[in-house]
Amino acid sequence: MENPAVRHATVGPRGFCLAILVFGVASGRVPDLDDELRRRLSRRFGSTLESWLDALPPRLDALAERWQIEFDSLVQRGTVSVVFRTRTADGRPAVLKVSPDRRRIREEAAALARWNTIHVPTVFAVDEHVGALLIESIEPGTALVDLTGYPTFASVASLLRALHANGMPDPMYPQVANRIAYLFESSRRLYEWKPDLVELISQDSFERSRELALQLAVRPAATVLLHGDLTPANILVDGAERGLVAIDPTPCLGDPAFDAIDLILWRAENVEAITARVEQLAPAIGAEPARLLDWCAAFAGMAALELAERRECSPAEIEPLLAVASRV
Ligand SMILES: Nc1ncnc2c1ncn2[C@@H]1O[C@H](COP(=O)(O)OP(=O)(O)O)[C@@H](O)[C@H]1O
Ligand SMILES: [Mg+2]
Repeated sequence: MENPAVRHATVGPRGFCLAILVFGVASGRVPDLDDELRRRLSRRFGSTLESWLDALPPRLDALAERWQIEFDSLVQRGTVSVVFRTRTADGRPAVLKVSPDRRRIREEAAALARWNTIHVPTVFAVDEHVGALLIESIEPGTALVDLTGYPTFASVASLLRALHANGMPDPMYPQVANRIAYLFESSRRLYEWKPDLVELISQDSFERSRELALQLAVRPAATVLLHGDLTPANILVDGAERGLVAIDPTPCLGDPAFDAIDLILWRAENVEAITARVEQLAPAIGAEPARLLDWCAAFAGMAALELAERRECSPAEIEPLLAVASRV
């Protein structure tokens, strides 16, 4: 079977290939893989990280030469990959992402190449062996999470519709039930690190939420290629007409409502705001409002636990989530 990501890498945008022929080799220096980066990624990869990072600079040099890019800077964001701002031979800004989780990069590249929409970055090149991906840089590319306020309903609806309107999805992707199982398992570990989280969401309630999410997954309203991690940290704002652009997918197959959950729960001032978003968004993405609210209820407890674990947050931020979670 043809891999869409590889096809995309080989052909590439025309100007990009021409520029390579004209300008020849132009590799810049690999930025320092500093302690901040090491701390950020070690939470996810543990002790295997150091040897992988130590072997990385020569691999990056080789990629830079092959893909004709110059390094600008290291982006101090992300939890599963090292991300660089780079420039292509014709001066276009591009982002290079490299991760020890090569399967993740492979699936990310394949999904980005598959989505035929301006709401994801173009894939320039992928190396599945190294676990590296070169994509168009979104400018200015501020993540939603770094902006104040909430995006317009129309921009959220366009993003979701564009992601889900891509015909029959490739069965190679995992089912959303696998993703749900993974997410609940990762969140359950939060109780081990911070046992007093049970005061926020009891373990009983957590387990009921997990069951509800898995039940919803087995009766999908439709089956589409999901982004799978559509959080406000993975949605960038493009300065031009393009609106919201999704990066960093964890593609899987399932109910379109799954991708709307994080955006519906995020920065909701009260339960009414959550139900109003559900009412507004459901018809735009072809979902039943009651079912979309069930999906949100199944994940509201997890969202509350993550907020409480990551930083000091006010009861006002958590209360709407707890109220929605209590419906389960
Ligand atoms: N295409 C892009 N354009 C602009 N910035 C990007 C792009 N891709 C990633 N970034 C920046 O890099 C950060 C981390 O990238 P991401 O793909 O989310 O990594 P991770 O998989 O580690 O979470 C993003 O928050 C964003 O700041
Ligand atoms: Mg990310």
